[in-house]
Amino acid sequence: MAVQKLNSKVLSVGAKHWDRELFDELIPLPDGTTYNSYIIEGKESTALIDTVDPETIDQLMENLDEAGVEQIDYIIANHAEQDHSGGLPYILEEYPEATIITNSKCKRFLTDLLPVEEDDFKVVEDGEEISLGDKTLEFLKTPWVHWPETLSTYLQEDNILFPCDFFGAHIAASKLYVQDEQRVLEAAKRYYAEIMMPFRGQIKKNMKKLEGYEIDEIAPSHGQVYSDPSLIMDAYSEWISDDVKNEVVLPYVSMHGSTKKMVDHLIDALTNRDIVVKPFNLTKVDLGELAKALVDAATIVLASPTMLTGTHPEALYGTVLVNALRPKTKYAAIIGSYGWGGKMEQEIKDHLNRLNVDLFSSVIKKGHPDESVFEELDQLADSIKDKHKDIN
Ligand code: FEO
Repeated sequence: MAVQKLNSKVLSVGAKHWDRELFDELIPLPDGTTYNSYIIEGKESTALIDTVDPETIDQLMENLDEAGVEQIDYIIANHAEQDHSGGLPYILEEYPEATIITNSKCKRFLTDLLPVEEDDFKVVEDGEEISLGDKTLEFLKTPWVHWPETLSTYLQEDNILFPCDFFGAHIAASKLYVQDEQRVLEAAKRYYAEIMMPFRGQIKKNMKKLEGYEIDEIAPSHGQVYSDPSLIMDAYSEWISDDVKNEVVLPYVSMHGSTKKMVDHLIDALTNRDIVVKPFNLTKVDLGELAKALVDAATIVLASPTMLTGTHPEALYGTVLVNALRPKTKYAAIIGSYGWGGKMEQEIKDHLNRLNVDLFSSVIKKGHPDESVFEELDQLADSIKDKHKDIN
């Protein structure tokens, strides 16, 4: 891969992982990903912002060689997760004079996770600056995007923000700058949904803090560089707002068709009431797509059959995921069927304990659904429509 230039003194030297399929052994990566690193060449010192996943360390090393980087004075560690920090020991071996710059919490994480020494670090506080001669790096505390230690680095002379995961997207592309805005926004929304959404409240504070900075470019550590920061910042503002859309997300599992008949009826009932429905079969779902749908929806309806005495494991998995992602969804309902065991409804309720939702009455049917069940589902659709009536 080639070294790419943001300008003559700011170089992108990271790695592209075109064919990575899963992140955290959970999240599908339909567009691959990148681990972006940036070299900033000052008159007196050189800094490297973030490293790469160890699996792609050769790309970073080759790029540093291609860029003619003979000395690195500072390695800025914006985040301790290993897809950005895992290359640190390799860089320190090649550039032993380098000092790792980060905050105290990130330092603790890094010394826990990696073979690095206390002496390798200089700890910085929120707002502290380091001069590279004619370039100044300012370190901003932007926690919980998506770990508690996360930091953003602001290059004052060029008005470039390096926020690491924040504003990032799992997308590998050969161009340095965003070109296909819609594709990038979809990938960024998916990424936000997968790891940022639970921390919406903290992200609001981080966004507020960034209002005090003139930002001409955003160079995240996944995906492409934004030459128009408003593209991603406006999208984030919408995602983290309290506004929801007139949408129902409907994750479901059906074993012998009873629950599926209920799901199909509810889809039609909601559609007939001008409510957008997004159903997801949990046995074959792309978790990223489900997470993305949860960003905006006013209501979630979970549908499960009863397996043995409780929830179908795939439906419970979906419930646990929804609970972990903590979307801003305001309402929820449970529908499904059973043969002889009756713990499914309570089990799902117990696993939604982190959501701040009003629950509609459940619709649970013993055996095959009949007209009375369809009427109950129509009533559920009416109730959802009523709750959604003030949503634009
Ligand atoms: Fe891209 Fe949280 O690491």
